[in-house]
Amino acid sequence: MPTREAAIFPVTTNDRLLRAAKGAHVDRAPVWLMRQAGRYLPEYRKAREGRDFFDTCRDPDLVAEITLQPIRRFPLDAAIIFSDILVVPQAMGMKVEMVSGRGPVFPNPIASTADLAALIRPDVDESLGYVFEAISRTRTALGGRVPLIGFSGAPWTLMAYMVEGSGSKTFSMARAWLHTRPRESQNLLEMLTETIIEYLAGQIRAGAQMVQLFDSWAGLLGPADYRRHAFPHLVRIGEALKLQFPDVPLALFPRGAHYILEDVAESPYDVLSLDWTIDPAVARRRTRGAITLQGNLDPILLFAETRTIRESVRSMIEGFGVQRYIANLGHGIMPEHDPERVADFVRAVHEFSTDVNEKG
Ligand code: CP3
Repeated sequence: MPTREAAIFPVTTNDRLLRAAKGAHVDRAPVWLMRQAGRYLPEYRKAREGRDFFDTCRDPDLVAEITLQPIRRFPLDAAIIFSDILVVPQAMGMKVEMVSGRGPVFPNPIASTADLAALIRPDVDESLGYVFEAISRTRTALGGRVPLIGFSGAPWTLMAYMVEGSGSKTFSMARAWLHTRPRESQNLLEMLTETIIEYLAGQIRAGAQMVQLFDSWAGLLGPADYRRHAFPHLVRIGEALKLQFPDVPLALFPRGAHYILEDVAESPYDVLSLDWTIDPAVARRRTRGAITLQGNLDPILLFAETRTIRESVRSMIEGFGVQRYIANLGHGIMPEHDPERVADFVRAVHEFSTDVNEKG
């Protein structure tokens, strides 16, 4: 039987995303959307019907089907593997439930030294092999139409959930840990970091062509704490992956962390994903063209009428420019969004980001 490393996938015919990520010239900006596979799509709700969220993540054929749904509907330039950042804490032995209307909940969050000691440093092939399998099958199912993005939560964001036990506006308990239990926090962040390196390496070997780290709760930390407790681990992950896979673009989404843009531009990451609270032209100036920027339309704009969406997309692209740019939202699509407005967004990107030299 061929090993996973030996798997041969169809040639990816649309390589705009990978070209833009590496800073190569593109005919127009590539576009994908955070949470593009999700509850706003009727076909997603049908596929998920009656099934537990994490059971769905463990069914490779269903994952491939769900990952492909937005690709069939919209002319997108990338697929992102359907999974969740919280499969990593699960692999470390924590129980996580997806409670409808409330989001993810950890019935037994980390509260003590004993809880920390009970965490498992997972063998990723054993406990997360189902994600690798899903990636390989999705690559095959994609048939080379668009590249496949893999992902992981960043160490700080995962720690925030593991200590807090659920989503929170402030994640005060998790933030307090950094200061009341600095040693233990450091150990936890290091354990997450090493696990994430192996997890993302496994995803790349299985067929992921770009990987993104979601640091969704970055902005809850101030600049000093982020630079001290979070960012060094991200640099370590970036360096370790670049050493093993120099050609695979790495993306980072440090949501809300405005102060870190210059640091990311000089880090091993190829793509900096931005939320909507930063002005595109300002982000471009501050990163001095040293990194590909991704983002950053406020997802709320997808509730507006088509004309407003189009105007917003046009000014977003004017701010970023067409090269070294990947069009996206500044955070995930919401379950209440209308797929027709998502189509408006994608169409507007196609129209307004075509390089003037390629026209006619
Ligand atoms: O972007 C994609 O299409 C790929 C799939 C993806 C999901 N979660 C699917 C999902 C990705 C990349 C994630 C990442 C994720 N998960 C993040 C980082 C990005 C971000 O949004 O900041 C975070 C913080 C999580 C944790 C998580 N999982 C939350 C907060 C929720 C929302 C719970 C809710 O009820 O809205 C989830 C659940 C989740 N992950 C859903 C999907 C499609 C919805 C669950 C469902 O279908 O019932």
